[in-house]
Order: sequence, then structure tokens, then C-alpha cells
Amino acid sequence: MQNLGTHSYTETPKPKVISFLFPYLWPEKNFSIKARVILSICAVLLSKIIAVWVPFFYKKAVDVFDEGHLQALSVPVFFLVAYGLSRGLSVSFLEIKESLFARVEHQAIRHIALKVFSHLHSLSLRFHLDRQTGSVTRALERGTKAIETFFRFSTFSLIPTALEILLVIGTVFYFYGWFLCVIIALSMVLYIYYTLKITQWRAKFLRHMNEADNESNDRSIESLINYETVKYFGNETHEYDRFNKAQKFYEEAAVKNKIGLSILNAGQGIIISISLIVTMLISGYQVTQHQLTLGDFVLLNTYLIQLFQPLMILGFAYREIKRSLVEMENLFGLMDVPIEIQDAPDACPCTIQEGEIVFSNVSFSYNPDRQILKNVSFTVPAGKKVAIVGPSGSGKSTIARLLYRFYDVNEGEILLDGKNIKKLTQKSLQATIGVVPQDVVLFNESIFYNILYGKPTASKEEVERSAQAANLSTFIKKKLPQGYDTIVGERGLKLSGGEKQRVAIARTLLKNPKIFLLDEATSSLDTHTEKEIQENLNKISKNHTTLVIAHRLSTIVDADQIIVLEHGEIIEKGTHADLLKKKGSYYNLWTKQSQKDESYQNASSK
Ligand SMILES: Nc1ncnc2c1ncn2[C@@H]1O[C@H](COP(=O)(O)OP(=O)(O)OP(=O)(O)O)[C@@H](O)[C@H]1O
Ligand SMILES: [Mg+2]
Repeated sequence: MQNLGTHSYTETPKPKVISFLFPYLWPEKNFSIKARVILSICAVLLSKIIAVWVPFFYKKAVDVFDEGHLQALSVPVFFLVAYGLSRGLSVSFLEIKESLFARVEHQAIRHIALKVFSHLHSLSLRFHLDRQTGSVTRALERGTKAIETFFRFSTFSLIPTALEILLVIGTVFYFYGWFLCVIIALSMVLYIYYTLKITQWRAKFLRHMNEADNESNDRSIESLINYETVKYFGNETHEYDRFNKAQKFYEEAAVKNKIGLSILNAGQGIIISISLIVTMLISGYQVTQHQLTLGDFVLLNTYLIQLFQPLMILGFAYREIKRSLVEMENLFGLMDVPIEIQDAPDACPCTIQEGEIVFSNVSFSYNPDRQILKNVSFTVPAGKKVAIVGPSGSGKSTIARLLYRFYDVNEGEILLDGKNIKKLTQKSLQATIGVVPQDVVLFNESIFYNILYGKPTASKEEVERSAQAANLSTFIKKKLPQGYDTIVGERGLKLSGGEKQRVAIARTLLKNPKIFLLDEATSSLDTHTEKEIQENLNKISKNHTTLVIAHRLSTIVDADQIIVLEHGEIIEKGTHADLLKKKGSYYNLWTKQSQKDESYQNASSK
């Protein structure tokens, strides 16, 4: 996998990028796009052919003036008007090309972005957990921008300019012979060589500037995110110094970059001047020898200036194209990431009728060097409630992730109504199960939007009913001035832990799945609210298969079966009463927790 979100100006891009882009520029069966591409090419060609003719009209006018025996003003007027018009026409054709090509370019960008976006959603949780937050979205954002940059500089700037240079050199050769042609060609080569060399040399300053910019951005963001921590320790000066250091680094790189740019511009100016002097001296001499007219002299001067002008941005265009190629490669590299969890070719889009869950000798590890679940077997009969308890890190949430098929088991199998979940489409499996996860994350939208997310087609009444069942409606109506329209903040951080959890419960209730998977769904709630929700959940999940993961044992005493997990192994199984009788791990946990409750009660009664 590529280094997402970083750029290097020295890497040589591979032709893969071009082969990836091509189908979007020449899409099969899309004649409108193909027509636009062909017309764009014609417009560029026309524009440049006319551009080469522009100075000719100018030359003709000068020659007529120079001959000194003007019979009528109409002759130079014709050439001067033709000169002006052809100039305008040349520019207009380039703009026509731009307008025609805009659709091709932006449609390609949209299709590529959509393709990558949906690919990202089909990649596994493992992929997303392995990435640094934001690096994937940055690659997507920069990559699509890069496509635009690539087109802008290659189709509007570099290719037409190269075409113009070739046309002019050909024309000069045809009319003025090889000597002047060689001089113009040499000065172009010298100019281009110098520009590219200096641009490569400057690349490191730009890289440093970029690094420094990222660094100072990171510093300021991190420092402001940790606003509270900075205040707790009175470390404002420390933060100021760190930020200043990053800024200073940027300043140094920026100054060097500016000097580099001036060296580039000055050198380009000197090369242009020398080329102009040499060409003018030679053609001037030829004018005195009557080998050339005054018009020819003017024409050659105009050609040179006309050619050098677009080359001024050559360095910039070259760098931008190179950068855009690297960024596009990062983007297209995402498409090469294999999809870990895929539907089997014969996967069934079945609707699960009963909802019986069977874990049969399941073993699993996230990484080969650390086994998490060992030979786990249990059954949740249809419509029953099974609870999993055990110490932190014992693998409870992992069981939930495997059931939802975020990962595939290494050994054993998971069956739903007797069908291996690998034989079901992910869509049908995931439609069957409603999850309230351990760490609830919400969208930075309204509470209503977040609940509706459970079933986007639901009515307002249905949303309100789910909120009611999750003990949210009183809070929303009485405490929030904006009610259901309250925005919950990034990741839901403007809500308390318990409120967030209740929103998550409400949206899962709205989904109304066959199977409930509750991972510490009520852990952030106070005992009173927890009890109320528990009652509602019990009512709703009646006749629904329910797998509950809980720390607080008092919430699962009524489970049909309780599974005690330790170090990824099931060490006890049974009802609450069975397990208490056994006087094993569960018994110990239970006595510890109830003693704690008692000591709380004792303390409060003192
Ligand atoms: N994506 C991952 N990659 C590697 N290891 C992981 C990953 N997710 C979890 N683990 C490890 O797997 C073990 C089991 O994690 P799991 O989340 O299932 O624990 P848990 O029983 O739910 O704990 P808790 O009660 O604290 O929620 C932990 O030790 C954890 O460090
Ligand atoms: Mg967990």
C-alpha cells in the first residue's frame, strides 16, 4: 500500500495512472464524451494553427508600410484587422476546448470518486482500523483534485504549447531555412532544460515547506483539541514554543523557496534575452543584406516572445503534473486494496426466519501472533436471550464482530438458522442483526437524523416511538430547546455518554431486526434509567433472539443462558441460578458486585 496522503516530487510516476484514466476519457458506449474529446482536440489544433498565423498578418502589415508606396490604406488595414481577429480566434478556440472538455473532466472525476468511495465502504474494518484517521479521506480529496490539476496543466498548457513550438519551428524552417530554425530550437531546449533542472533543485524546498506546513497544522490542531489538558497543566508557553518552532521551520523553507523562484525567473529572463539578441542580430543583419524584410524581422521577434510566454509557467506546470500523478497513484492505489470480506458467489440473500445463532468451535485471532478466541461453542436458541460476561479484553466484543462478519473466523463456523453466515450475503446478514455497539459514534447531524438512520424510510411517529422506548423522549422534549433538531456534535460528543447510548438504542429499535446484539448497551446509564430501558428492551426483544454483553451482572440475571468468557475461552455456562450454585467464576463475580452494591447502600445509609 502506498504512503497515503504524503507527496513526493522526486518519485517517477508509473504509467498505470494513464491507463486508469483512459477509460474515463474514452468511455465505451458514451458517444457524447467521445465526441467532446475529439472536438476538444480539433479546437486545440485549430487554435494553435491560427496562433502560428497571427504574426504573419503582422509581418505583412509591416512590410506594406515599409515598402513606402502605399496606394490605399485598405491593404494594411486588411492585414491589421486579420491580425487582431485571428488572435481573438485563437484564444476563443482554446476557450471552446475548455468548455467542451469541462464535462469530460468533471464527469471522470465524479465517476472515479464514486468508484473509490464505494470501494472504501466495501473494505474491511481491519483496513479502516489500520489507517490513520483522515489519511484515506485525504487521499480521496487530494486524488480527485489532482485529476483536475493534471488535466488543467496537461491539456490546456503543456500539450498545446508543445504543439505550438513544433509548428513555429516547422514554419521558421520552411520560410527562413535551418539556421534561424536551429537557433530558436536551441534556445527552447536550453530554456526547458534550465527550467526543469532548477525546478527539480527547488523541489526539496517545497517539500520542506509542505512538511513544515503539515507539522504546524498538526501542532495547532492537537494543541487546540487538547485545550483542557493544556489548561490543566498551565502549558500554554510550551505549546506556544512548539507552534513557533514549526512556524519558524516553515519560514526558513519558504524564504529558500522564494529565493529559488527568483533564481529560476532571473535565469529564464536571461535565456530569453540572449535568444532574442542573437535572433535579432542575425535577422537584423539579414535585413541589411536585403535577405529579409523588416516584416520578417518583426515576425521572428514576435514568434520568440509568443513561444516563451507560455513556457514561463513550465516549471510550475511540470511540478504540478508530477505531484498530481503521485496523488492520483495514491488514489488509484486504494482501488488495489483487496476486499477481505466478500460475498461467496453462491451467497443467499435469504431472510432469516427464526434467528437461531450457533457458534461452533470458533477460533479467531486479529493477528497471527495472538490468539483471541479459542474453540468457542454456544447456541442462542431462536427468541431466547443469552448473555456473555467476563473480564475486560476476554473477547466479548470480538464475538459480536464475528457474528456481524466484520472479520471471518479462522476456525469453526457461525451458523444462523443452520446456515453458515459465510453463505449468506452480507446485506441479508446485516439486515437481520441490530447492533448497539460498545462505543457509540453518532453523525454530526440532528438527533432525529441519527435515530432515523436505523430505518431511513421510517415515519416521524415511528422515530418518536423508538425514542420513547429508549427513554429519550422526555429528555428531548423537556431538556432540549431545539428538540429532535438538536445537532449532536462531532461523533456525538455534545451528548452525554448515556444520552448517546440511548440514541443508539433508539435507532436499533427502529431498525427492528430479528436479532439484537447489545454490547454494553446500557453501561453508561444510571441504575434507575438502566432499569427502565431494560424493561423496555425486554418487552421489545421478546421473541427476538438477543445476545447481550454486560459488565453489570444485575442486568442479565433473567437471561436464558449466561456464558462466562475468560482469555477467549468459555469457562462456564448456565442460567444465573445454575452458575451461582456452581460457586465458580460467575459466583465470585456476582458476590463481588453485590458486595459493592451493598457497600454503596451502607455508605449512603450512614
Ligand atoms: N482490531 C484489533 N486488532 C488487534 N487486536 C484487537 C483488535 N480489537 C481488539 N483486539 C484485542 O482483542 C482482545 C479482545 O478484545 P474485545 O474487544 O473482544 O474485548 P472485550 O471482552 O469486549 O473487552 P471489554 O470488556 O473491555 O470491552 C483485546 O485484548 C484487544 O486488545
Ligand atoms: Mg467489549
